[in-house]
Amino acid sequence: MMILGSCSDMGEPEVLLPLMEVDASSLDFSTVTIGSPQTRQIQIVNSGEGQLNGELTLIQDSSVYAIIPQGVFTLAGDDTLFAELTFTPSAEFTYGAQIIIIGDDLGNPEHMITLTGAGTALPVPALSVSNSSLNFGSILTGNNSQQQITLSSTGNDTLLIASIDFDLDVYSMDVPTPLELIPGASQLVTITFQSGVAGTFSGSMTIVSNSPSTPDVVSLSGETEVAVSYAGSVQPIWNSNCGSCHGSNGGLNLTSYTNLMSGSSNNGPAVIPGNGANSLIIRRINGTTGGLMPQGGPALSATTIATIETWINQGALDN
Ligand code: HEC
Repeated sequence: MMILGSCSDMGEPEVLLPLMEVDASSLDFSTVTIGSPQTRQIQIVNSGEGQLNGELTLIQDSSVYAIIPQGVFTLAGDDTLFAELTFTPSAEFTYGAQIIIIGDDLGNPEHMITLTGAGTALPVPALSVSNSSLNFGSILTGNNSQQQITLSSTGNDTLLIASIDFDLDVYSMDVPTPLELIPGASQLVTITFQSGVAGTFSGSMTIVSNSPSTPDVVSLSGETEVAVSYAGSVQPIWNSNCGSCHGSNGGLNLTSYTNLMSGSSNNGPAVIPGNGANSLIIRRINGTTGGLMPQGGPALSATTIATIETWINQGALDN
């Protein structure tokens, strides 16, 4: 007699069934830079014992999503299919799509995964500088002159200013670098011009950043001149050329700074601080108004007149 195997069920042969499970019902890629692919994984699990026969279909209007594998698949019992889903937006737009997975798991034959994701413009930092040049005018040596400039972050990515350099050390600023400016932010920078020696200073300020326009260059100009000393250079001119007639006897007294600045008892102010050309004393020593001074001549040299005029233009200081 034959001995039967351990199988005690003498009825229909057992049918092994598949059981399909999908690990997501929706997937949001959120915001992705245009043209840069983002990948997610989807798992289709056959937790049954029988083979799963299925099909994966991607439904979309524009071809921004891709999935591998796609189409018909078979999955053995207790096996998992890993599908790679890629989203590559091509415009600033929110893209929807669906993945449909059907299988011969009769209790659960269809799964849908809804997809969404938006494209966003490539972030680019930008720097806008309020001035392309700054003029600090003419100042006396040792004094300083300040100008302000605004640096604005006008791109859609954070602006990183690595350095701001001056090619001449007569220029400096009050803001430390590196500097980080979020889109829309701006930074006011005060630039100081100062020199201990006289000269004309044409320089530049170079801003190095992560902006595509880098480096941004601002041209700077300023002049310094040595202050003419009243006591050292101007009073001696009066003493040797004018004092004989412009002493204490009325009219214009040229024996001291205070007397000079109090003007003529007959004709008012002799000096207009800051305006040499229109000051009476210059017009008289140039001979352009009234009789030439010194009366009876000879005229002062051009250099001597320039010294006086410069002293007035510099503010007629008691220095
Ligand atoms: C020789 C005498 C004499 C000398 C030197 C002289 N002045 Fe005069 N100055 C006069 C007389 C007189 C007047 C008044 C009449 C007139 O305005 O011409 C006068 C007038 C002036 C005035 C007009 C103001 C006022 O009070 O009428 C100025 C400014 C002036 N002198 C500047 C000078 C200067 C600067 C020098 C030297 C570089 C100088 N003078 C040298 C005789 C002199």
